[in-house]
Amino acid sequence: MEVKDAPVRISYDDKAKFYKELHSEARGILEKEWFVNLANISALLKQHLPQINWVGFYLLHGNELLLSSFQGLPACTRIALGKGVCGSAAKDLRTYLVADVDQFPGHIVCDSASRSEIVVPMIVGGRLLGVLDADAPVLNRFDKEDQAGLEELVKILVTNTHWPAQFA
Ligand code: SME
Repeated sequence: MEVKDAPVRISYDDKAKFYKELHSEARGILEKEWFVNLANISALLKQHLPQINWVGFYLLHGNELLLSSFQGLPACTRIALGKGVCGSAAKDLRTYLVADVDQFPGHIVCDSASRSEIVVPMIVGGRLLGVLDADAPVLNRFDKEDQAGLEELVKILVTNTHWPAQFA
């Protein structure tokens, strides 16, 4: 018997529409517990975002970022604040859009296939929880529209999740 897979990706042809649908799917799967949401949101992103080789979360733990849920190859486990793209976004509390990782001083190589990267800090009530990191095997993969769409996704995630005090 032939098994036909249903189309599983939201169309990326119209990015505004893509992110609207992605946000709505995210709202649909979110629940209260942080570890459930991080696992499902990283899977959702890997399912729908084309041309990425790694996507996932690092969480603030003490004075460094620790690897959490992700999709992709095993990655670096600890990143100091201010180091690499992730540590820079966490320290400066702003998104880093990196068109070419080889041009980013201090970029941390986890998957050698990565050519461009976006890192969005997760902040709730002025409190840094961690970062969302997405890596692409092509240069210049992410633009301002992806930035706005992923920042909104992170906002939906952080405001609809219960975060224990350990992430303060
Ligand atoms: N490239 C990141 C490290 C994390 S991995 O890409 C999964 C950085 O420079 O912070």
